Amino acid sequence: MSARTAVLISGRGSNLRALITASAAPQFPAEIVLIISNVDCAGGLALAAESAIESKIIPHKPYATREDFDAAIDAALIDAEIEIVCLAGFMRILSDWFARKWEGRLINIHPSLLPAYKGVHVHERVIAAGEKKSGCSVHFVVPELDAGPVIAQAEVPVMPGDTPEILAARVLEQEHKLYPAALKILAEGKVRLENGRAVFAS
Ligand code: GRF
Repeated sequence: MSARTAVLISGRGSNLRALITASAAPQFPAEIVLIISNVDCAGGLALAAESAIESKIIPHKPYATREDFDAAIDAALIDAEIEIVCLAGFMRILSDWFARKWEGRLINIHPSLLPAYKGVHVHERVIAAGEKKSGCSVHFVVPELDAGPVIAQAEVPVMPGDTPEILAARVLEQEHKLYPAALKILAEGKVRLENGRAVFAS
């Protein structure tokens, strides 16, 4: 049985593409069955059409509060009988209510070696700090931004002369491998969130 998985996006969707590609393999334990975007111009929506996956645009602007917007997302997830939710470049901060409701089944990819460099403009800050390495992390989403327990990480070197764009591209290549791998172990039940910690099955 494949875990019914939704991917939430706001942009280009390269991680969405990696997840769709991985989940198309017969033995993959999760299936991407729903794509939700909060913007109608997200590049990732073209992928939904290409791969015949159901997609929904739920713009955040008409909703008076974060909770109201999140309730609309939640309703779409429930309607599609979603079991796992992957955030992939989804540029809205989710309410505490939503994060708690989906706790353990809601994951995100972030382009740094968390807990270092939470938030935005990661690559600029990594380079400015003179770091020798960076990377990406897939983590469980908890109410505090980018603070959930890490499921998997991949490292890359930071090279002399790197610009944020060059470093971003090096990290992104790893993201596309890491996210499917992390979704796989979650869908297989090999990692779970317990008492605020990621617990791995031996
Ligand atoms: C990725 O770098 C991801 O780590 C971050 O947002 C970016 C999304 O890129 N959360 P894409 O839309 O998946 O191409």
